Amino acid sequence: MKITEAEFTGSFTETGKCPPADLPEFAFIGRSNVGKSSLINMLCNRKSLARTSATPGKTLQINFFRINRNIFFVDLPGYGYSRIPKKDRLRIAALTKDYLKKRTGLTNVFLLIDIRLPQLESDRKFMEWMAAEGIPFSLVFTKADKLSRTQQKKYVEEYRKKLQERWEELPPVFITSAKNKAGKEDLLRYIEELSLIPKRNSS
Ligand code: GTP
Ligand code: MG
Repeated sequence: MKITEAEFTGSFTETGKCPPADLPEFAFIGRSNVGKSSLINMLCNRKSLARTSATPGKTLQINFFRINRNIFFVDLPGYGYSRIPKKDRLRIAALTKDYLKKRTGLTNVFLLIDIRLPQLESDRKFMEWMAAEGIPFSLVFTKADKLSRTQQKKYVEEYRKKLQERWEELPPVFITSAKNKAGKEDLLRYIEELSLIPKRNSS
């Protein structure tokens, strides 16, 4: 799949106000600053479609992008950023979970993980929550340009091993870099394949 058209649809603070769920939808989530907005820009060949920042906590709403007029990409707020007031953090977490549970068009969630950081409890908990809710997800390791190929492989292998202590089946894994575009083709191919499958909850 090649993305030829990407347009910002809007930012939303309530699931009920999001656009009609009439297209296959792919959501990007993960810790603050992990590179969600940068990954969306990289996939769309755009510099600043989704707003990025070196300061964590940039994305605070649910942002919709319509891709090639036939799928949605959704940039979700990051979690685990301690400098956001607790009240706002709780509100954002509730909003995100509500969105993930209710959106009937949701085809897959990409959970982004910084390839340089130790495995985070918050990410593991989030995976467990999605599995319990029956929400399909994949893991996307980001910022691969910061490590050598050998280091990348080693990191992912160790990450998988740790997950295997608790999980029988592992989700699909992608290694990406918004900087050098690594993983772009694989991820786009996967998105295209999934977007051809009928939507969740539709009969
Ligand atoms: P929030 O919206 O705050 O949750 O952050 P986010 O997950 O959307 O992260 P964002 O895309 O804004 O990127 C955060 C920082 O990481 C920025 O300074 C980016 O330039 C940097 N960054 C993102 N992806 C990559 C990457 O693949 N490689 C490198 N080297 N830096 C990256
Ligand atoms: Mg962001």
